[in-house]
Amino acid sequence: MQTLCSKNRWALITGALGGIGRALVNEFTNAGYKIVATDINDDFDMPENIHFVQLDLEKLVIDEVYANEFYYKVNKITHGTGISTLVNNAAVQILANTRVITRKQWSTSFNVNLSAPFFLSQMFINDLESNSGSIVNISSIHATQTKKQFVAYATTKAALSAMTRNMVLDIGSRVRVNAIEPAAIATDMLKAGFIGKEELYQRLEMFHPLGRVGTPNEVAKLAVFLSSENAGFVQGACISASGGIQGCLSDPM
Ligand SMILES: NC(=O)c1ccc[n+]([C@@H]2O[C@H](COP(=O)([O-])OP(=O)(O)OC[C@H]3O[C@@H](n4cnc5c(N)ncnc54)[C@H](O)[C@@H]3O)[C@@H](O)[C@H]2O)c1
Repeated sequence: MQTLCSKNRWALITGALGGIGRALVNEFTNAGYKIVATDINDDFDMPENIHFVQLDLEKLVIDEVYANEFYYKVNKITHGTGISTLVNNAAVQILANTRVITRKQWSTSFNVNLSAPFFLSQMFINDLESNSGSIVNISSIHATQTKKQFVAYATTKAALSAMTRNMVLDIGSRVRVNAIEPAAIATDMLKAGFIGKEELYQRLEMFHPLGRVGTPNEVAKLAVFLSSENAGFVQGACISASGGIQGCLSDPM
């Protein structure tokens, strides 16, 4: 039986201060990884053993000098070992109708949700190859099924899942690239949106065949599994983590 423990292997996690990001940091730490955690926000309460680097992913996409500086910071933190896992988790969810969405809202959605995962993957390709590493992209159920107002977010997630499948054709002999497509996950933000609307929250839960929404830890544990040798033949996969809701037809009958 192969072990999930990955001592002396480094995981780079974006969006580490968000709901799922914090769970990713915990679960990869529990699995024995050393962590470089990044977020656009500042680190207020990361545990001391986590190496936190503040990083604006939109700037990384636009500014090559800024991107290179980030690469060298990570290289220094890992003492030249380089990362073994890249978790592209950060995203923005800008909701706006097709008639009114602005160029700025559209480009920010694409920069953060799609171009940043692409250019981070490109920047760390040599390290990931020499460490037989893996990339996990946190996509969304919106890659395939979506709602009104989600046109920018859903399009970026569909493209992120497509990028996952396509990238393995270029680099897939030595780096595994997979995606997770979660449905509703009970982050603080999701729960805050339902304060005073408990009945609606219950209906959301019951709409899932499992009778509940997912937890950040469930997404994070799947990411750890995908990064491990136990998922050694899982390549270019976009794995649904939706409690079964991806199979539900929501018509009024
Ligand atoms: N929570 C859910 O229900 C759910 C469902 C499906 C998919 N997802 C996906 O899971 C991932 C994490 O979602 P979450 O719910 O934890 O969201 P979140 O908003 O709590 O976390 C996202 C993090 O990304 C960071 N971020 C935003 N813009 C950035 C930028 N320009 N540069 C660097 N960092 C930036 C934010 O500061 C935040 O900490 C996202 O990719 C999201 O699309 C979430």
